[in-house]
Amino acid sequence: MENFKFQMPTTIFFGTGEFERVKKAARETGKNAFIVIGQGSVKKNGYLEKLQNYLKEENIKYTVFEGVEPNPLSSTVNRAAKIAREVKADMVIALGGGSAMDAAKGIAVSAKSGEDVWDYCDYAPRKAKPILDALPIICIPTLAATGSEVSRAAVITNAEIKRKVGIHNQKIVPKFAIIDPELTKTVPVNYIIDGAVDIIAHTVETYVSNNKDTKVPDYVTLAIIRSVKEAVDELLEDPKSVSAREELSWASSMAMMKLHSGRPGGWPMHEIEHSLSAIYNISHGLGLAWLMPSIIKFGMEHNKKKLLKLIGFTLHGNLYHYTDGEKAVNDLKDWFKKIGALRDLKQCGVEKVDIEAVAKAALETCANSEGYIAASAPMYEKDIIWVLNDAFGK
Ligand SMILES: [Fe+2]
Repeated sequence: MENFKFQMPTTIFFGTGEFERVKKAARETGKNAFIVIGQGSVKKNGYLEKLQNYLKEENIKYTVFEGVEPNPLSSTVNRAAKIAREVKADMVIALGGGSAMDAAKGIAVSAKSGEDVWDYCDYAPRKAKPILDALPIICIPTLAATGSEVSRAAVITNAEIKRKVGIHNQKIVPKFAIIDPELTKTVPVNYIIDGAVDIIAHTVETYVSNNKDTKVPDYVTLAIIRSVKEAVDELLEDPKSVSAREELSWASSMAMMKLHSGRPGGWPMHEIEHSLSAIYNISHGLGLAWLMPSIIKFGMEHNKKKLLKLIGFTLHGNLYHYTDGEKAVNDLKDWFKKIGALRDLKQCGVEKVDIEAVAKAALETCANSEGYIAASAPMYEKDIIWVLNDAFGK
């Protein structure tokens, strides 16, 4: 196994009805909360009002910032951080999906320093500023997807230059995560599906992108993705299923807790997808669903045995179901189509993917010093173009 550092400082309250635990979390964190929400669905569903009431019960002041967009923009984060400084907030509470949580992390950094959040983002053409401090963060996810509630990462988009990159730092790991699957019950099924693909991608990135046989990380990966597959199938049969939402919520956090550490490998799906959604503003899960089969196909030449096991166990609960790589990848694609993850891009407003532009952006933002993206084999420009052509070229 590869050496690694494992640090999981987030206190997690998990389970249906645990929302109320935010009282304890906030009480132990500060006195003046900056609440970050997305486009207002938490208002419609009454979750925001509930949170406000919990904070009132604890005599905690709050300010609400509404309007974080999907693929949160650095300009929005900066605007919010300025307000958080003005009201002298001493903690940030995110209530929403990955966008609200990632924005909250950016706000926590920028409010503390007073500087542009983009300066802290890992944008390869220049060195990111070190994050010296951040406001403490409490995350209350309303969608199982990004696992941001337990991670040291946030993804921010710069609309001016159409680039989407991460901030990575231990200072932005949430102090508390209140994971109440009940809060995901109002989420439309297509969001849940996109979220499930994101969970799968977080779990399989390093599995797909290296050739090493590592037992604990690999079996943890297989257990998570098979659970996600079963939960998705269950939800499509019964959209009200509480147990399926619970499974997805925990899988989402587990995937980003990195219990499958110890395996080397890069994050090629995310590194290419971030450029795709930065340029076309599509849902992250949708972009991943298009790219994942092609990146797995790219890996078949180098990593076939492991990849066959991965797809066999995901789709059939059987490590040895497949011997034919093409058949396995096609079946994965068919399952993505069946569950509605692989949707027509034209219907999402993308007439044609500019393959050269996406490849250029991916290399610019994510290539290492040797000029490639780490995958099962180094992905140079020609390899990224091959993957993008396989996914979108027909
Ligand atoms: Fe992701």
